[in-house]
Amino acid sequence: MPKLTLAIDDKQSLNILKELKGFPVVVKIGPIVFLEEGFPLLKALKQDGFEVFLDLKFHDIPNTVLKTVEVCAKHDIDYLTVHLLGGENMLSPLKDIKGKTNIIGVTILTSHDESYMEFLHSSYSLEDMVLHLASVAHKCNLSGVVCSSFEAFNIKNKFPNLKTVIPGIRLNKDEKDDQKRVATIEEVLQVADLIVMGRAIFKSENPKQTTLDILSKIGGTYGNC
Ligand code: C5P
Repeated sequence: MPKLTLAIDDKQSLNILKELKGFPVVVKIGPIVFLEEGFPLLKALKQDGFEVFLDLKFHDIPNTVLKTVEVCAKHDIDYLTVHLLGGENMLSPLKDIKGKTNIIGVTILTSHDESYMEFLHSSYSLEDMVLHLASVAHKCNLSGVVCSSFEAFNIKNKFPNLKTVIPGIRLNKDEKDDQKRVATIEEVLQVADLIVMGRAIFKSENPKQTTLDILSKIGGTYGNC
């Protein structure tokens, strides 16, 4: 059963968490909120019983990324992200970091489509590039990858040990916002370890109810809290 991961990309979205204590959601904090609230927010979320996902997508020279991830690993963070395009020299040393943080590699953002391969002057298709990057994640012993629904089945087949984190999930596929490779919950239920959802929940009329409906769809019955 995948875990619902709430993408908190503004401070207002934090309000919903007061009403979701005790529910099995992962809270994903992006740079917009982390830069203002920092590690004390992550600590408070852990105290409230949530799993915490720090989504800052690190991509820099190997020494800088290693030291940055070491700092994060000292905090009680369940998941964090690095860009797989940082390459093996950046990724490989991360396996020696002690701690229980799952290091997740971002393949190609779900806001990109095939035209991004032209931009990169790559002869690979987008799907092949994502699979190649997943193989790098596997080789460097990362815990998982961020990918779209379109690549997730192939990744699970080839690298069953990698967790699949899938953003770009919509209740209605017409509402893409800035995402390009979108899918519905039903389309990823069998293949996602973490289903990442932000705007589809927070722009809905009743975000708490939408979250509860999604939790029921994912599996299990959740009463009102
Ligand atoms: O609002 P929406 O559901 O599109 O939000 C998706 C979330 O997932 C955002 O927080 C975004 O930063 C993150 N994300 C993504 N694509 C990736 C990795 C993370 O959309 N490849």
